[in-house]
Amino acid sequence: MGPCCCLLLLPLLAGAQQQQFMEYVERRLALLEERIAQWHDQSSRYSTELRDFKNQVLGMLETAEKEREALRAEAEGAAARVDRLEREVDYLETQNPAPPCVEVDEVLVEKQAATAKQRKNEKYNKLTDCSDTIASVRAMKILKRFGSSAGLWTKDAAGSSEKIYVFDGTANDTVFVFPRMREFTLFSATRRAARIKLPYPWVGTGHLVYGGFLYYIRQQGPFQVIKFDLANKTVVDSSVFPAEEQIPVFGLSPFTYIELAADEEGLWAIYATKENEKNICLAKLDPDSLDIEQMWDTPCPRENAEGAFVVCGALHVAYNTRLPSRSRVQCVFDVSGTLPPEEASLVYFPKRYGSHSSMKYSPRERQVYAWDDGYQIIYRMEMKKKLEV
Ligand SMILES: *[C@@H]1O[C@H](CO)[C@@H](O)[C@H](O)[C@H]1NC(C)=O
Ligand SMILES: *[C@@H]1O[C@H](CO)[C@@H](O)[C@H](O)[C@H]1NC(C)=O
Repeated sequence: MGPCCCLLLLPLLAGAQQQQFMEYVERRLALLEERIAQWHDQSSRYSTELRDFKNQVLGMLETAEKEREALRAEAEGAAARVDRLEREVDYLETQNPAPPCVEVDEVLVEKQAATAKQRKNEKYNKLTDCSDTIASVRAMKILKRFGSSAGLWTKDAAGSSEKIYVFDGTANDTVFVFPRMREFTLFSATRRAARIKLPYPWVGTGHLVYGGFLYYIRQQGPFQVIKFDLANKTVVDSSVFPAEEQIPVFGLSPFTYIELAADEEGLWAIYATKENEKNICLAKLDPDSLDIEQMWDTPCPRENAEGAFVVCGALHVAYNTRLPSRSRVQCVFDVSGTLPPEEASLVYFPKRYGSHSSMKYSPRERQVYAWDDGYQIIYRMEMKKKLEV
């Protein structure tokens, strides 16, 4: 035997080792399989859980969507109700227009009798045959948002100039001049605007551009009306406004003491004094000499007034509330007596941002340039004959 027996043993031994190895491998494989089975189990459990979770979330989303729909429907319903209420209030106000004008009338007549001489409250001689009054606001255009919350913008109320004059704020010494409406609306900066620095600072929002002149209010002790030639940039005339103890003319616009206005018949000053502190006064001005031709105590209250303008010799005062709501012309005083106050239309302005810090009527365009909380707005007016109301 010898080596030969060893040769035989070797493969036997190798056979046994192989067996062990195979068993080992099989055990490992079984272990692995077990683990894989576990993973499989787990992953299918996870995916089930994930599916359940997804369904749950979808359900929740659906409920949320339904609730949102319901809320939206409710909000829409509320808005519709508010709208209807507002219309009803408007209607009621139209049915019961502004009692103050009528109420104060008698007091006014007495007072007028007493001060007739001083106030020259004789019958007013109309200078033109203008017989129109405002029927309603026909259209509104929001031009842009520029400058401070209060201010004034206007064109020349007489003549054909297309220039736009802007007084930003309630006191300053500079006026911006844009060549046309286009330049004013297109550019946000004041780069395109010419600046006029006035020799005396202006105060309030009652200034007026009329026939190439700027008529503005200067405060320094008593109020002064300055007439400034816009072509050669010089002060042509100035006069101390002949009213004593002046107070802000509009209850809701405390920065304005004198409002200069132009209409089809010329120049007017709207103001108020301590002597007659409940109501607004009106004066006719001579545009050349700045003299006062005639004065009136009007029945229009100062309280809750936010602005005023004159149309064909009739003062129109716009009222609002302290928390700004709908602005409306609620008191009309016609110096020629052609338009009885109870026959004037109650004119509503569409509800906008806040309250009007200025309202400039342009007799040549029959529209009002308004400054509403920093927005520059144009209201086109629908006119009617005074006697056809
Ligand atoms: C005028 O307004 C400008 C800002 O627009 C301001 O810087 C300037 O000081 C004001 N000037 C006066 C005199 O109030
Ligand atoms: C400016 O024009 C007015 C006429 O509107 C004239 O009276 C005045 O003398 C002129 N001033 C200057 C400095 O040219």
